[in-house]
Amino acid sequence: MKFFVVACLLPLALAFDFTVGVGKDETTGKKGLGFDPSVITPAIGDTIVFEFRSGAHSVVQSTFDSPCTPSSGGFNTGVQTVPDNLEVDAPGLPQIRLAVNSTDPLWFYDEAGGLCNKGAVLAVNPATSGTQTAAQFKENSLKAPATSASASPSSAGSGSGSSSSSASATASSPANTGFRDGMSSVAVIFGLVIGLL
Ligand SMILES: *[C@@H]1O[C@H](CO)[C@@H](O)[C@H](O)[C@H]1NC(C)=O
Repeated sequence: MKFFVVACLLPLALAFDFTVGVGKDETTGKKGLGFDPSVITPAIGDTIVFEFRSGAHSVVQSTFDSPCTPSSGGFNTGVQTVPDNLEVDAPGLPQIRLAVNSTDPLWFYDEAGGLCNKGAVLAVNPATSGTQTAAQFKENSLKAPATSASASPSSAGSGSGSSSSSASATASSPANTGFRDGMSSVAVIFGLVIGLL
């Protein structure tokens, strides 16, 4: 019985989080343009954790050919705003999680940051050879038309009782809390497994 329980729970415990800083320069490690890191290779069952740095940023899914244009029905974190006075790796930065369900390539850019065509793009499971590489995706982004930083964090937070603003403000939070609950059950399960051993 003991071993049966352990064997069943192991796969759950082996899922990894890939934390990606948004508005963090991957070469300097400081606040800056783009994503840190800008290329990741998660497996099915892993989770991408977008963690937002100072300024207004949003992670929006696009396509390989049009890196700076939202893909229809694609993932969009909405605009996250972080005060300028927070250190680059301050604790408690806002996070939004995205479960990885396949190893097909996924392409993202920082729409609210407004610097997609300066290379603020993220490649998830890109090809390592051939055409659809991370490097070519970045090349494509540099050729995209200039975009401007999106208007203020908008609606979210302002206004008392406007239904449109509350809809956008709440859109991202369930993912957060939902996963945190998930993580604590993993922790509890770990404790259980260790207790059983
Ligand atoms: C994976 O599936 C979940 C649940 O259907 C969905 O919310 C999430 O957006 C999917 N992830 C990707 C990268 O499409």
